[in-house]
Amino acid sequence: MIAEFQRLIGAEFVLTDDEARFRYSKDHTEDYSFLPDVVLKPANTEQVSQILRFCNAHHIPVTPRGGGTSLSGGALPVRKGVVLSMERFNRILDIDTLNLQATVETGVITEVFQEAVKEKGLFYPPDPASKGSCFIGGNVAHNSGGPKAVKYGVTRDYILNMEVVLPTGEIIWTGANVLKNSTGYNLTQLIAGSEGTLGVITKIVFKLRPLPTRSMVLLASFKSNEEAMRAISAIYLAGITPSGMEFMEREAIERTTDYLQRHLHQKVSVPLKEETAAQLIIELDGNDDEIILKDAERIVSVLDTFGIEDVFYANSQTEKDELWKVRRHISPAVNAYSLTKAEDVVVPRGNLPALITAIKNIGQAYGFRSVCYGHAGDGNLHVNVMKENIPDALWNSKINEGIGEIFKEVVRLGGMLSGEHGIGIAKKPYMPLAVGQTNLNLMRAIKAAFDPNGILNPDKIF
Ligand code: LAC
Ligand code: ZN
Repeated sequence: MIAEFQRLIGAEFVLTDDEARFRYSKDHTEDYSFLPDVVLKPANTEQVSQILRFCNAHHIPVTPRGGGTSLSGGALPVRKGVVLSMERFNRILDIDTLNLQATVETGVITEVFQEAVKEKGLFYPPDPASKGSCFIGGNVAHNSGGPKAVKYGVTRDYILNMEVVLPTGEIIWTGANVLKNSTGYNLTQLIAGSEGTLGVITKIVFKLRPLPTRSMVLLASFKSNEEAMRAISAIYLAGITPSGMEFMEREAIERTTDYLQRHLHQKVSVPLKEETAAQLIIELDGNDDEIILKDAERIVSVLDTFGIEDVFYANSQTEKDELWKVRRHISPAVNAYSLTKAEDVVVPRGNLPALITAIKNIGQAYGFRSVCYGHAGDGNLHVNVMKENIPDALWNSKINEGIGEIFKEVVRLGGMLSGEHGIGIAKKPYMPLAVGQTNLNLMRAIKAAFDPNGILNPDKIF
């Protein structure tokens, strides 16, 4: 079989050595590692098709892989076989300024794509924290979000059309490069967010927006997590639509500034008073400074009713960049301090105060600490459960039960297990808590229609 792969894509793109297999055995999910038998790096759609045709005929598991930044185990080859790395699919094929569309290959790094469209005055909003290393195809496969989703929507909202190789080797386009489409089932949106279980995405057509030219960032401090969460709803009620609304618990901020200094030798200071328990980063954007300033003033008057002492205005680009740098590094910073289980729950925004209270109470009852942060404007909270000194046996039993309790509470509050990181293997045991048997059966039937032999990213989601 290795000889056949070598014949199909060239020997140098077929990796079987231990070092490579180890490198591709991990993503960013806890300390998980699953060794594949072989890593393949195809160059084009035709090669992906030939690989899948061959693997389908021989029932060889295939795990597609983007930048390897999954936090739910999406890129882990849990049944060995092939890791299909899309890293050679790294070309931006077209930026169509007439139609505000762009066509890219799946292995383009998200930030590279953002910068390329920005040069033409255009805007691709989805901006996961890992944008400097994640692949756009992985974003599509997981329907990634990021801080700007709160105003501009998630990855899925920007996909018009995709070239996809099915597990049988057939190549399809899922839709058309049009802004409206009522022509049958929406295969584009079915495959987006399917975590690489239905097909291998090779090309994507995105819609773009005009680039907003002005922005302002505010940092508001609160004496309790709950107060910060309540303030969010009040800001929306005042009729304002921020382009970022991020929650950070005090420990997230402290760990991250410390991490930036120690690991990246960057000194970043965030104004943080003794009594501050949590902060909100609130970003406003647009094309008119005066309108932005007026909205900022309205936000401050809303915040006044929450008894906060002062609001820090980040005006210069450096100040804005520093605040966002802290926000984006929370996940690596917290994980550098302790192994964590990274949860990604989402509830209707108004239920965030109840959720944060419940998370802390459950932590106390089950004996774990958590560091919480995330896209609170979307009701999407990242809950990093800290291992610290918890013995392995408890970490793998009682702590998982505690996380199950968090998920039960999330569902009780009308929420879901994942807002943007996906289910993969990490949240899979909890799926029945949130998704009914009938719905799970429909999902299984869809999977079987696409992938009758179950070769593509097996054992993920359900
Ligand atoms: C973040 C990633 C972990 O928001 O989703 O930082
Ligand atoms: Zn996030």
